[in-house]
Amino acid sequence: MAHIPINKPYTTTNEVALVADAVLTGHGAERNKYLDRFEQEFAHFAGTSLAHCTSSCTGAIHLALAAMGIGPGDEVIVPEITWIATVEPVLYLGAKPVFVDVLPDSWCIDPEAVEQAISPKTKAIIAVHVYGNLCAMETLLQIAENRGIYVLEDAAEGIGSYRKGKHAGSMGLAGTFSFHGTKTISTGEGGMVISSNPEFMHKLRVLNDHGRDPKDPEAKMYWMRNYGYKYRMSNTQAALGVAQLSIVSDLIQKKRDIFLAYQQELKNLPLHWNPEEQGDQNGYWLPTFVVDSKQPFDRAKLFEAMAANHIEARPFFYPLSSLPMFQSKTQNKVAYQIFERGVNLPSFHELSNSQIDRICQTIRNYFHG
Ligand SMILES: Cc1ncc(COP(=O)(O)O)c(C=O)c1O
Repeated sequence: MAHIPINKPYTTTNEVALVADAVLTGHGAERNKYLDRFEQEFAHFAGTSLAHCTSSCTGAIHLALAAMGIGPGDEVIVPEITWIATVEPVLYLGAKPVFVDVLPDSWCIDPEAVEQAISPKTKAIIAVHVYGNLCAMETLLQIAENRGIYVLEDAAEGIGSYRKGKHAGSMGLAGTFSFHGTKTISTGEGGMVISSNPEFMHKLRVLNDHGRDPKDPEAKMYWMRNYGYKYRMSNTQAALGVAQLSIVSDLIQKKRDIFLAYQQELKNLPLHWNPEEQGDQNGYWLPTFVVDSKQPFDRAKLFEAMAANHIEARPFFYPLSSLPMFQSKTQNKVAYQIFERGVNLPSFHELSNSQIDRICQTIRNYFHG
């Protein structure tokens, strides 16, 4: 029985051809050829005017928060349910992450909880489109505007997710993406920042080039006014990105087909799935269910059955404040109540119908067995 991994990239001979071209010719005057192309084409795809490639989404978040001027003494509001990489850059900058609860249906940051958590020290909110689900962006943007704070969208998991026609990541001051091997499009490792604010993006580009500002009147070789960072993507990885972007619609459609197949096959079970509101499109990066609270559920037992059938399932994220390095905030009830009832299912693009059947049969057997 073949092993079913949770995710892996889908590549074609075009990826190989563009990477080969980058390896053979992408030097000297051509060293930015694929980087420029990937940035332009990604900005077009996401509906912003500007994009900047990075070596990871973690680096992209770090740069974006730094370009917002966040530093020691500042607070950044973050959701309990996300990958740790959303929060680490807040800590790198010496600021304080303030964990707030998530909504019970989308598992994304709760705008009311955000409103209550705002203090005079709050500088930004990070809205994470977790598992592809969309945050309540209209409300979050309104709160941020009223209170004079920034919104950064962590859209690492949000490729193919649209809120009323706007792509995840394109609604706040900036949005960030991941092209890690588990994501909808992949460059192995890699990330992107998007924004339509030229001043912000200039600051961010300068920060990502060790602080060198070509517009500084005193700019000269090896001289810079401030220090910065280096989270650049390579031209070779960008070539992979260009090839992936050329098939992104098919890759998103495949994710959607996989999600709908699970939902259909398991429709008689008491499970709450990634939602899709009227007028939205969910890119369904990771098909996820939360077992209804009235249904007894032993996740370890289900995972044992999955492993016995060579299926890689994953647990929902822990509430981040429950991790040992933070102070737990059990008052964030939704996050603390649902996390042990949540399961992520495989969704790589080549997952076959018979593999989906095997996964669904294993889940049905657990609930009916
Ligand atoms: C929500 C979220 N934010 C940030 C990241 C970090 O992405 P990267 O691994 O590209 O640094 C990930 C990646 O898994 C993620 O899922």
